[in-house]
Amino acid sequence: MCPDPTGLILPRADRPVADTPTEPESVLLERRVRSFATVQEHYFETPPQIERGWQHHLVDTRGRGYLDMLNNVTVLGHGHPRLVEAVHRQWQRLNTNSRFHYASVVELSERLSALLPDGLDTVFLVNSGSEAVDLALRLAWAATGRRDVVAVEEAYHGWTYAGDAISTSTADNPNALATRPAWVHTVPTPNSYRGPHRGPEAHLYGPEAAAVIADLVRSGRPPAAFVCEPYYGNAGGMALPDGYLEQVYAATRESGGLCIADEVQVGYGRLGSHFWGFEQQAVEPDIVAVAKAMGNGHPLGAVITRREIADAYRSQGYFFSSAGGSPVSSVVGLTVLDLLRDEGLQDNARTVGAHLRTRLLRLADKHPLIGAVHGSGLYLGVEFVRDHETREPATEETAAICERLRELGVLMQPTSDRMCVLKIKPPLCLTTTSADVFVDALDDVLTHGW
Ligand SMILES: Cc1ncc(COP(=O)(O)O)c(C=O)c1O
Repeated sequence: MCPDPTGLILPRADRPVADTPTEPESVLLERRVRSFATVQEHYFETPPQIERGWQHHLVDTRGRGYLDMLNNVTVLGHGHPRLVEAVHRQWQRLNTNSRFHYASVVELSERLSALLPDGLDTVFLVNSGSEAVDLALRLAWAATGRRDVVAVEEAYHGWTYAGDAISTSTADNPNALATRPAWVHTVPTPNSYRGPHRGPEAHLYGPEAAAVIADLVRSGRPPAAFVCEPYYGNAGGMALPDGYLEQVYAATRESGGLCIADEVQVGYGRLGSHFWGFEQQAVEPDIVAVAKAMGNGHPLGAVITRREIADAYRSQGYFFSSAGGSPVSSVVGLTVLDLLRDEGLQDNARTVGAHLRTRLLRLADKHPLIGAVHGSGLYLGVEFVRDHETREPATEETAAICERLRELGVLMQPTSDRMCVLKIKPPLCLTTTSADVFVDALDDVLTHGW
């Protein structure tokens, strides 16, 4: 087996830099542990050394191929030649910052607002989801002159001070609930599978959240904003209860606050049925935060809002991000949008996602460990429970299943605060054949053990 055949095929001068390792993965891992902050964890107990990717596949340095069911950021898939070419060309021509006047930053801003409801016409470009959420909060503070923010429990919104403050996922930070600043208020997790209101009772979450906002108003602390992922990512790729955002947005607006949609994970066509998560809830936010898919892995994020909200930021001075909206980043953003359209990737998410979901539901009939299949498009979650009645999370089993799937050539990880949900978020170019490979591997593990 030859991990990189270019050495055999190309004459020496044309060879790309070889990725054939000069030391075992374990030695590289020890070097990582010594030099890289360990709070930046790595997947898997003994991770393969991945140096190449192609479409929805990754290849390790031993030449082993893996099905990538995990890379939600890389919507186009790995190593897309058109993106490579566009980035290469732009780096050769120019990269600078958005205080200069060039076309790509204008075109990307126009393209983003054209994808959103009328009125969401003003764009800020940043470098990550954390920055986008942070800026969205700052805009709400500036526009309302208020400080309090309402967030949903068990959510993750980023690592900056403000993004972390509104993140209440204990999987990301075990002290999340105990360390909230006083300006952060939470509403109960609208988890229709295992929260206090289940199944048909899930319609109670909306009025409950609206009551929290009304209480804040009564206590003289009306919120600047309500912030929420319009499709519940951290809980395992779960739809919010029908009508949830309509009710909570109405309560927020009645109180004079703004509605922020964190589309960092769920936006950009992953849901298949809708380009934006908020469309699935039939609402229109005041501020939208985007990142991840927007750059296909290139650091790129955006906040899109109404002109008057953006203008309110003047009271804070000016806004500048050195690399946000640079020519290279803008070209990446434009190329990603072109390719999503040209390759029909949202449609692919819908059709392949529906096939995958159907097969996973069939698997649920066969294996009692599967408590539920959540999600839409290529944003799916398989929740493992030890008991269908108590819904006791099968946390250790989920970790072991992911390790075994890796041995079988499928990359998968657990998610949710209980780490008992398979986080199924592959590149949107996933094929039906590869979806079947994944389900067959999962079936194999659930049948023969992990
Ligand atoms: C919903 C959501 N918001 C914000 C973020 C932060 O994005 P980034 O990692 O690009 O800073 C994430 C990252 O996982 C996310 O899932």
